[in-house]
Amino acid sequence: MIGLSEESLPLTGILSDLNAQVDGLLQTLIDEEAFEGKAGTTAITRLNAGSSVKKIGVLGLGSSDAMNLESLRRGAASAAKLAQKAKATSLAISFPVWNNGPAVTAQALTEGIILALNKDSRFKSEPDKTKTELSQIHLLAFAGHDAAIEKAKVICEGVILARELVSAPPNVVTPEKLADTAADLAKDYGLKLEVLEREACEQLGMGAYLGVAKASDLPPKFIHLTYSPESTAKRKVAIIGKGLTFDSGGLNLKPSGSGIEMMKIDMGGAAAVLGAAKAIAQLKPDVEVHFISAATENMVSGHAMRPGDILTASNGKTIEVNNTDAEGRLTLADALVYADKLGVDAMIDLATLTGACVVALGDDISALFSPNEELAESLSSAARLSGEKMWQMPMEDKYFEGLKSVVADMKNTGPRAGGSITAALFLKQFVKDTPWAHIDVAGPVWTDKENGYNSPGATGYGVRMLVQWVSE
Ligand code: BES
Ligand code: MG
Ligand code: ZN
Repeated sequence: MIGLSEESLPLTGILSDLNAQVDGLLQTLIDEEAFEGKAGTTAITRLNAGSSVKKIGVLGLGSSDAMNLESLRRGAASAAKLAQKAKATSLAISFPVWNNGPAVTAQALTEGIILALNKDSRFKSEPDKTKTELSQIHLLAFAGHDAAIEKAKVICEGVILARELVSAPPNVVTPEKLADTAADLAKDYGLKLEVLEREACEQLGMGAYLGVAKASDLPPKFIHLTYSPESTAKRKVAIIGKGLTFDSGGLNLKPSGSGIEMMKIDMGGAAAVLGAAKAIAQLKPDVEVHFISAATENMVSGHAMRPGDILTASNGKTIEVNNTDAEGRLTLADALVYADKLGVDAMIDLATLTGACVVALGDDISALFSPNEELAESLSSAARLSGEKMWQMPMEDKYFEGLKSVVADMKNTGPRAGGSITAALFLKQFVKDTPWAHIDVAGPVWTDKENGYNSPGATGYGVRMLVQWVSE
């Protein structure tokens, strides 16, 4: 399979040599299909009987001006899917090297292929008939870049773990299951794990987190997994993920039509954190990383926190719960206070925090909030490289007025307008001086449509960006 930009037509150089080797069939294919190299287009044909290569295909990468790592990643994904449809058992891919160099290009191509071919049929009773027969893939012209390919494989293991955690139903992925997953990672890769049970959280005064956990019959699990490098760490960071294994809304119950049946995705932040842990533990950067999630469910029962209850978080701040469906920020409040005490150089949280964020940026783009420009820039740059779309939003301090409470230090929700911003401003109340960023991933954690290397379902959003950011 050959990736062609619009400018690589007519065939020149090695492409015209290849065309000669296949008796002009490549040119015939391009002519017959009026193939112009437009992004996402493909054409494939059979070679003469007797040839060791059975089929040859071309794949459009669009204009080379607009080309970037992500278009190569998506191109490699289309190549893999086309080969799969053609029932190929082995595939050779020839793609141009992007200007970040061959190692980075090989990594991106590998990511596109693995993620495109990953399919989750754990919850189907019959085995998947479309299962790939592809057993070998060769990246032509990337010999000598095995380390980059290995790195991509490890990162994809992390992405796939995150996808599997998000797509599993809420009766399977419970807070305990998240803690067990962390325990497996600790055992497999020698990480340190601490799981705080309800009593330990009570002792730490985590009233905001425990307020959310109150209605659930399942015990909350506060997960703290640590990766420490063998040599001295050049920096220490904490990555915190919202871990609501199901969000019913609580007594402010989500009505039908609100997507309540999709609220298993509300642990997408925690999934990204555990996925990143799996990759980071294997890649072994010189950075100490704390992976944290205050996991629980948001349920209804006679024990549920009531709208109007006042909770006290572990930094002593009081919160009037005017909406029990704004629960993620309550769990994150105590997780942020906890992470802040670890003395890290930076902390980031990833959370499926607000529907307002999806209204603002749609399904593909996450929202980045940070009072620290340097941290925001380093995260934006990591996301540009990983191809995970992220857009910085303002932390408009004035909007905190919307969270003022008559009786407590703050309410947990403000007006509808600017809902993702007030959520970020709420979280800021639980961070002291540590550089901090909040990423609202409510949109991109899941896709309903085929989207590049993401099939419909969980995307594993955030893992690649986190690994990139930590490894920098
Ligand atoms: N988990 C939801 C946010 C969400 C919505 C995630 C859609 C993924 C897709 C969050 O806990 C929530 O319910 N937020 C409320 C906040 C409101 C009560 C201020 C929302 O967005 O409606
Ligand atoms: Mg909610
Ligand atoms: Zn939620």
